[in-house]
Amino acid sequence: MKYNTLNAEIIKELENILGSKNIMLDEEKIENYSHDETPKEFAHMPEVVVTPTDAKQVSEIMKLANKHLIPVTPRAAGSGLSGGAIPIYGGILLSMEKLNKVIETDYENMMIVVEPGLVTNEINRLVEDKGLFFAGYPMSLLSCCIGGNIAENAGGGKAIKYGVTGQYVMGLEVVLPTGEIVELGGKNVKDVTGYDLKSLIIGSEGTLGVVTKAIIKLSPKPKYATDLLVLFEDVNSAIKIVPIIISKGGIVPTSIEFMDKLSVHTTCDYLNEHLPYQKAGAMLLIEVDGTREDIVEADAETIGELCLENGAIEVYVADNHTTQERVWNVRRNIAEAFMVYSPEQSLEDIVVPIANIPLLMPEIEKISAKYGIKMPTYGHAGDGNLHTTLVKNPDMTMEEWFETEDKVLKELYEVVYSLGGKLSGEHGIGIKRRDYLKNHVSETELMLMKKIKRAFDPNNIMNPGKIFSL
Ligand code: LAC
Ligand code: ZN
Repeated sequence: MKYNTLNAEIIKELENILGSKNIMLDEEKIENYSHDETPKEFAHMPEVVVTPTDAKQVSEIMKLANKHLIPVTPRAAGSGLSGGAIPIYGGILLSMEKLNKVIETDYENMMIVVEPGLVTNEINRLVEDKGLFFAGYPMSLLSCCIGGNIAENAGGGKAIKYGVTGQYVMGLEVVLPTGEIVELGGKNVKDVTGYDLKSLIIGSEGTLGVVTKAIIKLSPKPKYATDLLVLFEDVNSAIKIVPIIISKGGIVPTSIEFMDKLSVHTTCDYLNEHLPYQKAGAMLLIEVDGTREDIVEADAETIGELCLENGAIEVYVADNHTTQERVWNVRRNIAEAFMVYSPEQSLEDIVVPIANIPLLMPEIEKISAKYGIKMPTYGHAGDGNLHTTLVKNPDMTMEEWFETEDKVLKELYEVVYSLGGKLSGEHGIGIKRRDYLKNHVSETELMLMKKIKRAFDPNNIMNPGKIFSL
């Protein structure tokens, strides 16, 4: 695909649409927008960063870009983990940072209407005193934005009970790559009025359009929660128990998060935190929540007993907010800690059917031993989604590392697919996994995806080069 670069005339037109205060050309300023949370080898500079303040401006930008064949990459917080918001062909970086308002709180319908640049946890803060919350729980909720969560259909730590972002998106206003503004879905609880285009946008990684407004469903916030910190001798004993809890406990836990020793140690070091983990080779963080304290406590006890009967060394109960927050803070910061301590790494997002996670763990150990690199693993064990992280061995040259990384990823993905799994559970394909996806998706499925892309974006200007190349 041959794109045009920006010239003085196009910049002038952008100024007419946005005013000069919403345009950044200064290299130092726009450098920030050249990467997300993936390693630096994925970074690419945009030619210009624009910060529109309404959907009309976004529409005008898209029309202009479509006419002149300029690539446009939308971006919210830039906290993505697959390179989705990186402008790999340069062009226009469309930052949603000024579209960050709450447009309407509609408590009668239990909905909130927001702009994409709003920090996700702001929704919770705003509706907390009404006893409500947004039940999607991306791990970076304190910094990520709802627009990015929608683009990636972000999952997180409470998906076993509450599902992922898409389940809470009722409606969207979307600017198409050709500039039209379209409303999809709405406030109706039921809606089978034609194709479900809203769901096609959710998780499309900013390749089909730009979300400029979202109607989000709110849920009653459970009044009580108990967290169990369950310690195990080793990784396999911890993981083995997950399908048992899910199928035999008779309880749907809110979370079953898994952390191996290296993940816990690294993050506690990073946060200067101390958890009662010293003896453990692995731990599970299990949460149960609900509206009645006695039931929550009884459920937690049942799960704790099931763990002890099935090989846990110890079960700690965290039933007050401060302790719970401390433990969850460790869990939420693992990715960040590894980024700081081991910047040459590949944070994976594999997912397998829950019953097969015990079969996956020994395979990961084998691959790690075969290639001589550390592969710490943590993640959302309760929904089969694990963040195995390949860490560069300090002795390796960068060249050796990239070669090893590629081989390990290919082998890991083969194992994952042989267990009925997929490449990514919640981070997306973006640029990071693009060239691996084609080994695992059927020609027919890929053909359908490409046709859908062309129907929305005939000139392939909307976040091009992500998921697959055309
Ligand atoms: C987490 C992010 C990396 O689960 O998805 O911590
Ligand atoms: Zn995660």
